[in-house]
Amino acid sequence: MDLNNKTFIVTGGSSGIGKAIAQKLVGKGASVLITGRDDEKLKSVADELNCEWVLADIGTPEGVELTINAALIKLGGLNGLINNAGHGWMNKMHEYSWRDFEETYRVNVFGAAMLGQAAAKIFMEQKSGNIVNIASTAATKGFAGGSVYSSSKFALRGLTQCWQAELRPYNVRVFGVNPSEVTTAFAQSNRVERDDVENKLRGEEIAHAIVSALEMDDRGYIPELSVHATNPF
Ligand SMILES: NC(=O)c1ccc[n+]([C@@H]2O[C@H](COP(=O)([O-])OP(=O)(O)OC[C@H]3O[C@@H](n4cnc5c(N)ncnc54)[C@H](OP(=O)(O)O)[C@@H]3O)[C@@H](O)[C@H]2O)c1
Repeated sequence: MDLNNKTFIVTGGSSGIGKAIAQKLVGKGASVLITGRDDEKLKSVADELNCEWVLADIGTPEGVELTINAALIKLGGLNGLINNAGHGWMNKMHEYSWRDFEETYRVNVFGAAMLGQAAAKIFMEQKSGNIVNIASTAATKGFAGGSVYSSSKFALRGLTQCWQAELRPYNVRVFGVNPSEVTTAFAQSNRVERDDVENKLRGEEIAHAIVSALEMDDRGYIPELSVHATNPF
């Protein structure tokens, strides 16, 4: 698809991978609405990227409704949803709590599932649309300390496959994306972006992969793609 003049929601577009995706989409002429929970950061990134914003916790029913309504009002329509907002920290099996699962699944699974549903209703009606679910390489293989995060991303990857099966007859494309380690603020307790490390992935590489996949003619789609650093060692 030609991204010029198309409309996208990027959840968690106020930092890291989401910000890089929003920036690339705007660079291609798309109109973008970013979401986040930190008011100041969100407004300043929206100013920097020249995009729309809405303050919304995607892990709540109210946040999902706010986001979809803001997209329809501020963008005037919707061609794509990037389900990027995510949350996670690593703790071992003997350490995790009920609350860890609730907090992580609320954002990574429930919010993504319900916002995906709201977008799909629009896309099914207009017989076109795109959903990109940002999972992780942690969605393809479990690891020590990954019970909460990794299982939530396995769930998101499962949703991606179900949606592909349901939405292809409506010409709606659903892409699953699995980034390996990216030097962002992810899982940083101070929420500050990590410094760039020359041989590790940046948000730009993930954004490049997603925008390239979206730009393919609508008759084709890539069900799943993983992005790894060439030599992170
Ligand atoms: N970094 C990695 O190594 C890596 C690897 C694989 C996959 N991923 C996935 O990539 C996605 C983006 O991560 P990132 O590395 O870019 O992390 P990040 O820099 O921490 O950015 C996360 C973004 O999501 C937003 N967010 C978090 N919870 C939210 C909620 N409940 N409602 C709305 N927005 C919310 C944050 O906004 P606020 O700060 O305002 O909350 C922020 O804009 C996540 O799904 C993550 O699991 C990351």
